Amino acid sequence: MTDIEAANAPVQEGDPGVVAGASYYQRVGGAEAVKAAVGLFYDKVLADPELAGYFAAVDMEQQRRHLALMLTVVLGGPDGYSGRGLAEAHQPLGIPPEHYALVGEHLMATLSELGAPADVLAHVGDVLVQVRDQVVGAGDRRGG
Ligand code: HEM
Repeated sequence: MTDIEAANAPVQEGDPGVVAGASYYQRVGGAEAVKAAVGLFYDKVLADPELAGYFAAVDMEQQRRHLALMLTVVLGGPDGYSGRGLAEAHQPLGIPPEHYALVGEHLMATLSELGAPADVLAHVGDVLVQVRDQVVGAGDRRGG
């Protein structure tokens, strides 16, 4: 099972974040909420001179898809995803830890501004720690 599949396994009462059978994803408002968050997150990432370059050659539609997938994954939403694994998609990019941290900060700030509850924020923070090694470049820094 990939991490994305694991993150999207059906929720069960007793799973972290599950209240009355609802996942974090459902509790924050599902697809509509993710769509709203994508706009805000996208603005933050592209306004960050350290990060904008990663997405320069990625088309707009793909960028929005990336951000929506990312949010859905970290919130444990449904798996509509059949793309590459996280390591496969990111290792060629040589993302240094600082850039991963910046993206994480933008994500947390976005969710916080949109009023996500504290346990959702804590869960997202945990997922960011869990998937970090797949996304951050294992080898040399960018360009190295
Ligand atoms: C929790 C962290 C992250 C998650 C869950 C995530 C998720 C994803 C997914 C699912 C894809 C594949 C999309 C596809 O194949 O259609 C992807 C691609 C991509 N990601 Fe991320 N991402 C994360 C962090 C980052 C960071 C930190 C950066 C840059 C600093 C980044 C930049 C990109 C770029 C540029 C692509 C497109 C790569 C290409 O088309 O070759 N991602 N991401």
